[in-house]
Amino acid sequence: MTPRTGPLRLTVNGATHQLAVCSGALLLHVLRNDLQLNGPKYGCGLAQCGACTVLIDGKTARSCILPVGGLEGCEIVTLEGLGTLEQPHPVQAAFIAESATQCGYCVNGIILAATALLRRIPDPSDNDIRQALKYNLCRCGSHNEVLIAIRAAARAMTSHMPVVE
Ligand code: FES
Ligand code: FES
Repeated sequence: MTPRTGPLRLTVNGATHQLAVCSGALLLHVLRNDLQLNGPKYGCGLAQCGACTVLIDGKTARSCILPVGGLEGCEIVTLEGLGTLEQPHPVQAAFIAESATQCGYCVNGIILAATALLRRIPDPSDNDIRQALKYNLCRCGSHNEVLIAIRAAARAMTSHMPVVE
C-alpha cells in the first residue's frame, strides 16, 4: 500500500494537530520533531526498551514502531500531557520526591507505564508493579527507588492526599 502523505489529524495531550506528514512516519519522530514533545525518548527503536512509551487510549504503546497513519481518532498522551511543572501528576510528584531516577532516560516510559497501571489497579502489589514495568529497561539501576515512588503515588492517589517528601 502506498503511504498517504498528509494532512493527518493527530490528537495529542488533548489538542488536535493537522500535520503534513507521511502516514508511515513513526509516532516518536512526529512527536519529537513536528510537535516538539521530547518526553518520549529514542532508546532502541525496536520496541524493546520502553524509553519511547506513550499512552494511546489509556494503554501504553511504543511510539518508536508505530506509524502515525493508524492513529487518527486516538487519544495520545505523552509525559508532557500528565502534569505541569507547577502541578505535576501524582506519579511525577512521587518520582521527584523519592529521587527515583538517575540519568532519567528511562523515566518517561516508567512514569507512563506506572500511570497506566494505577488507573487499572489503584493499589498494586509489588508484584503488580514489577509485572507492569518488566519491559521498561533502566540501565542505571533505579529499580528500588522506582518501586518506592510508585507505592507513594498509589497511596497519594487513593487517599487524595499530596505526595509527601
Ligand atoms: S525506543 Fe521504543 S522501545 Fe526502545
Ligand atoms: S535512570 Fe538512567 S536508564 Fe533509568
